[in-house]
Order: sequence, then C-alpha cells, then structure tokens
Amino acid sequence: MTDLQDQRATRREYTAPSLRRVDLADDPLEQFAGWFGDAVERGIIDATAMTLATATRDAVPSVRVVLMKHYDEEGFCWYSDARSQKSSEILGNPVGSLLFYWRELSRQVRVTGQVERLPDAQAQEYFDTRPRDSQFAAAASIQSAQIDSRDELVRRMAAVEASVGEGAVPRPGSWAGWLLKPQRWEFWQGREGRLHDRFRYVRRAKDWSIARLQP
Ligand SMILES: Cc1cc2nc3c(=O)[nH]c(=O)nc-3n(C[C@H](O)[C@H](O)[C@H](O)COP(=O)(O)O)c2cc1C
Repeated sequence: MTDLQDQRATRREYTAPSLRRVDLADDPLEQFAGWFGDAVERGIIDATAMTLATATRDAVPSVRVVLMKHYDEEGFCWYSDARSQKSSEILGNPVGSLLFYWRELSRQVRVTGQVERLPDAQAQEYFDTRPRDSQFAAAASIQSAQIDSRDELVRRMAAVEASVGEGAVPRPGSWAGWLLKPQRWEFWQGREGRLHDRFRYVRRAKDWSIARLQP
C-alpha cells in the first residue's frame, strides 16, 4: 500500500453547533428550507448538487450527482435524459434516494421516496430557459449511450446547430424533468468526537414522526 492509498490517518473534527429535537421544524420541508438557506448564504459552491441513488429492478444500485432545480411540498426536481442509465432504472423501479452534502456546514440531508416523470410542459418550460449551448448538447447526446469518439459527438452537435440555425432549439422528447416525493428524510449534523446529531422524519397519515438516531 502506498502512502496515497493508505488514508487511515486522514480525519478531521466535525465541529458545529448542536442540532436538538427542540430546534427541528415539525415539517421536514421547512427544516430543509432553513438548512438550504444556510448553505446558500454561506456561498457553498454547488449547494444544489445532490447525489441521486437509483437501483435496477433486481436491486443493483448506482449513484451520480445531479442538480436540484426546484423543491417544494411535492418534492425535489432535476432534469435528465429519459434514455440515461438513471432514468431507465427509475422507469423500471420508481424509487430513489437523494443526498445533499454541505461540507462547510458539516451537514448532510438524505431524502428517500418514489420518483416520477414530470409533465413534458414543465420540462419544456425549463429547457427554454437554458443556455443555448446546453440545449444543443442535450439535443446531440443520448445520455449514457456508448460512443466511439468525442469527434463524433462534436460532429453531431455541429449538425444540430446547422439544422436549427437562428431558430429555437427543439427540446428532445427524451429530455425530462423528474420528481422525488419524500417519504423519509434524515438531517445529519457533524459534531465533535464523532457524536453526531441525526434526526429522521418518516411520513405518517397527516404528519411526520421524528426520531433521533445514533451517530
Ligand atoms: C456537479 C454535477 C452536476 C450534474 N448535474 C446533472 C444534472 O442536473 N442532470 C444530469 O442528467 N446529469 C448531471 N450530471 C452528470 C451526472 O452525474 C451523470 O454523469 C449523468 O447524468 C449520467 O448518469 P447515468 O448514466 O447514471 O444516468 C452532473 C454531474 C455533476 C458532477
């Protein structure tokens, strides 16, 4: 094992103010809004980045980062190609888990629930606001499909640009919005000596049960 491979001595203290049961909002969305606001106010780069876990029907998991584009009482939304690996997995097994990690605040939030595709009109509305380059890239790429070279990708992008000219870039029918509807949340606040504070919210008929978890 080289020094770089051996990371057993790499550690740091997670020092942060305590997270107490009395500090928590009854509604996890409100709790999230407060923490997300803190992350934005702190100027954390990619505060909207969330690690999205999906799994095949036979439970083989995979994760990747996507950007949260909005959240509200319905859930968390991101945009992606419906032909991608993640989307295929969601279509076969419509559940997922999201993780926000805000390192500078020693906080993570985990959210788990059912995932569904948003109406195309909503995807269209957001697609229309994207920079033109991103629109062309979306139109030229079949996300997660194999390709022989980058040159081929560049050629495809140029062909789309040529065919569109000065006009609006058509949204590929597969470019879609996705919504994860929270059933379970966990708020994690890193604390000194690894005695972290963790609280889990689980959806009940009318409200949420809240429990402290061991670190
Ligand atoms: C910071 C960051 C943001 C990303 N945002 C998105 C996104 O919003 N939508 C998306 O489809 N891919 C996004 N990606 C790329 C994905 O991580 C991933 O490579 C891609 O979606 C293909 O994943 P899949 O093959 O598992 O479907 C992002 C990657 C990073 C590092």
